[in-house]
Amino acid sequence: MDKLVILDFGGQYSHLISRRIRDIGVYSEVLPSDVSKDELIKIKDLKGIILSGGAASVYDDDAPKCNKSIFGIGIPILGICYGHQLIAYLNGGEVALGESGEYGITELRLLDRGRRAGLLGKNMLLNSLNTSEKVWMNHCDIVRKLPEGYSITASTDHSPIAAFENGDKQIYGVQFHPEVTHTEHGNRILENFALDICNAKRDWKTSNIIANITAEIKQKIASRKVILGLSGGVDSSTSALLVSRVIGENLTAVYVDTGLMRYRETEFIQQIFSKSSLKLRVIKAHERFFNALRGVTDPEEKRKIIGKTFIDVFDEVAEGEAADVLVQGTIYSDRIESGITKHSSRIKSHHNVGGLPDNMKLEIYEPLRDLYKDEVRRLAMELGLPDEIITRHVFPGPGLGIRILGEVTPEKADIVRRASFIVEDELRKAGLYERVWMGFAVLLPIKSVGIQGDARSYKYPVVVRIIESKDAMTTNFAKLPYEILEAISTRITNEIHEVNRVVYDISNKPPATMEWE
Ligand code: XMP
Repeated sequence: MDKLVILDFGGQYSHLISRRIRDIGVYSEVLPSDVSKDELIKIKDLKGIILSGGAASVYDDDAPKCNKSIFGIGIPILGICYGHQLIAYLNGGEVALGESGEYGITELRLLDRGRRAGLLGKNMLLNSLNTSEKVWMNHCDIVRKLPEGYSITASTDHSPIAAFENGDKQIYGVQFHPEVTHTEHGNRILENFALDICNAKRDWKTSNIIANITAEIKQKIASRKVILGLSGGVDSSTSALLVSRVIGENLTAVYVDTGLMRYRETEFIQQIFSKSSLKLRVIKAHERFFNALRGVTDPEEKRKIIGKTFIDVFDEVAEGEAADVLVQGTIYSDRIESGITKHSSRIKSHHNVGGLPDNMKLEIYEPLRDLYKDEVRRLAMELGLPDEIITRHVFPGPGLGIRILGEVTPEKADIVRRASFIVEDELRKAGLYERVWMGFAVLLPIKSVGIQGDARSYKYPVVVRIIESKDAMTTNFAKLPYEILEAISTRITNEIHEVNRVVYDISNKPPATMEWE
């Protein structure tokens, strides 16, 4: 499959670039910025390279750089923002601190069309754009002088060299961000690059993704006994179907009821999967998890303990089944936030990635590791999973354990489980469940005074968090009508005896994260 790679210079949008390229239908991957020329050449069907933005200045001592030799391998290159400056800098041009920063939507003026056509031929990056375009800028430094062989293709008031190209070498730069939606025709620019300049084929389609993963499953685990951690979410359910279609009875799906799962989850899982040919084992392990978590308050420690207890359970099941592989539904964003890429910091040890113990007996296999959430949902649809699974909100691996701040107890798990169910139920009733990324409750380890039935009460507050997101990397809190929030709040305080106050979380990500721990 034709492929583009994005070299990550630490910009917050590196993955957004990759998403946009995949949305065009071309496979793309994010790699560390200092990947060597030899490694790049070895990548099969590599059609183009994009240098991402980044927070550094090219003159900083520790500025991330790419290997200069990549400009000579004959594969088209597009630099975005910092990447644009780096191309100029590494090839003999000049980058300077602009008189002021340039942030937000800016008018981009393209060089006269006639001149461009003559100058650039048919494979222009800015082909079929208007003479004046709205673009989104976010930078301080500017390219002041171009290297030899490069020409300007567009300017803004602040950045005379806002876009450039070297037609012979097929190297392009844009100071603005075509990947963000504020750049009106950003998609067209990325299409021009991926399809016309790189000549990449649009093979990244659901049917091809399924065929590729199926081939990989055949090659890696076809003749082995395998267990799979089934959580009831779309990722693990999709992994289960993909693997089971290839290896049938050799797969045992294991659903562990940790005591930290959603409301009536075990019944739900049994009901959904009893109709399929999947071999399912339900392991009740409440006590084991609560015992392991007793007295623990640190979020990362909770994740690690929950991860380890899961693995202990899986090890035992695997022994009984004589299995030596554990399939997990890890997806791309899980790996990014657990720090797989060089410039991304480890935000949280998502239990199915970073929280695993070092001395694992089972080999881990993650068939969906390179997919973004919406891609997994498309796969799930194609595989015929029921809507209840496909449209389900994400539920974290450590479950309610990270939605109870402070020590986790069975009583607290019960409170937060019922509160979360009410949030989801009210969202469903209002027809909003599928329009938000997640809606859930968090229990705080404090109490406050209230008045209920004319008497003073001193009880827990519950936080309601309802958020919108496209890919889990960034989030906005959902601006819901007050009536819906009021219905949620009233139901929680009426139906859950231990709660007398409900607060709505109005933070975005960043600076907050979606979960509270
Ligand atoms: P955060 O809180 O990191 O959440 O903004 C992003 C998405 O990831 C989910 N999440 C987890 N999933 N194990 C998981 O499998 C974890 O430890 C974990 N922590 C967060 C979270 O629910 C959200 O959808």
